[in-house]
Amino acid sequence: MIYRLARSAMFQLDPEKAHDLAIKNFSRFTGTPLDIFYRQNLPDRPVEVMGLKFKNPVGLAAGLDKNGECIDAFGAMGFGFVEVGTVTPKPQPGNDRPRLFRVKPAEGIINRFGFNNKGVDQLVENVKKATFDGIIGINIGKNKDTPLEKGVDDYLICMDKVYEHAGYIVVNISSPNTPGLRNLQYGEALDDLLTQLKARQKSLAEKFGRYVPLTLKIAPDLEDHELIQIADSLIRNEIDGVIGTNTTLDRTLVQGMPHCDEAGGLSGRPLQHRSTEVIRMLNHEIKGQIPIIGVGGIDSAIAAREKLLAGASLVQVYSGFIYHGPKLVKDIVLNCDLR
Ligand SMILES: Cc1cc2nc3c(=O)[nH]c(=O)nc-3n(C[C@H](O)[C@H](O)[C@H](O)COP(=O)(O)O)c2cc1C
Repeated sequence: MIYRLARSAMFQLDPEKAHDLAIKNFSRFTGTPLDIFYRQNLPDRPVEVMGLKFKNPVGLAAGLDKNGECIDAFGAMGFGFVEVGTVTPKPQPGNDRPRLFRVKPAEGIINRFGFNNKGVDQLVENVKKATFDGIIGINIGKNKDTPLEKGVDDYLICMDKVYEHAGYIVVNISSPNTPGLRNLQYGEALDDLLTQLKARQKSLAEKFGRYVPLTLKIAPDLEDHELIQIADSLIRNEIDGVIGTNTTLDRTLVQGMPHCDEAGGLSGRPLQHRSTEVIRMLNHEIKGQIPIIGVGGIDSAIAAREKLLAGASLVQVYSGFIYHGPKLVKDIVLNCDLR
């Protein structure tokens, strides 16, 4: 009820202004009596994935808290894990505004932010300050002005800086909003990237005496044979997890709806089935060798269970959280046990 009121006020605002306002207030309210508006004490539903103990399998997807400014607020809402980022080595402003659109009839969102963020050093400072007792994933990317052939360097710079502070690390090569980025998902480019990152993970694990799982986040807009190739590369390079999926370029399900022709990635309900399909296919290829984190259009406990039944070990939400608020987290946590 409170969220519905807050949402109708927020939906009167420009989407990015509403987003900025929410982030600002979350970071101000947490730890004060005002966090009563979103604090939820949920029962534990522990799961062990990638050698990590999650208190429940429901996470916040990357992109909402790009700079790790309100990790504790999301913890207070009951998320078992919070993924921050995508962060890049240097701060960057992202694309010109407007760059965030609501596709309300479909409970969808289109964004073309382009990795706007305050840079990896600021993110690390924020993560260090967080008191959240769940798992923090850190999602890393490359700066727009780094040529694609040097992209690996950006991921390595970020990895070096976040390693010590991350529960797990996500290599994001699937955003549609950084020109050319998705090319890293294919063939030799992917193999080369994963080989170098895996080697760096090994040396960082020795340096810090702690193994931090490395995961890859993939797009939903892949042909079957491309998915098979990716699965093969993940296994060969002993990657610890795969996150499926990022936003889609496909507009079939939102034709004729407001903002449907805006450039960028579409998320939310119109992505639900495609991302589940990708998870199912990945699961078939990977055969349980690598855990899958399922994300894309989860807007209910049932939608979350579909992802889990398709082979995901954990789930994440973004757009569903914008449309339904913290109650969605509660509904999923209370109904996620498949036994
Ligand atoms: C406004 C917005 C910004 C996003 N930014 C990022 C990002 O920086 N990095 C990333 O890996 N995914 C990003 N995503 C993708 C989400 O993490 C998620 O994969 C996708 O939205 C599908 O989940 P959903 O349907 O629950 O939103 C973003 C999504 C939205 C809607």
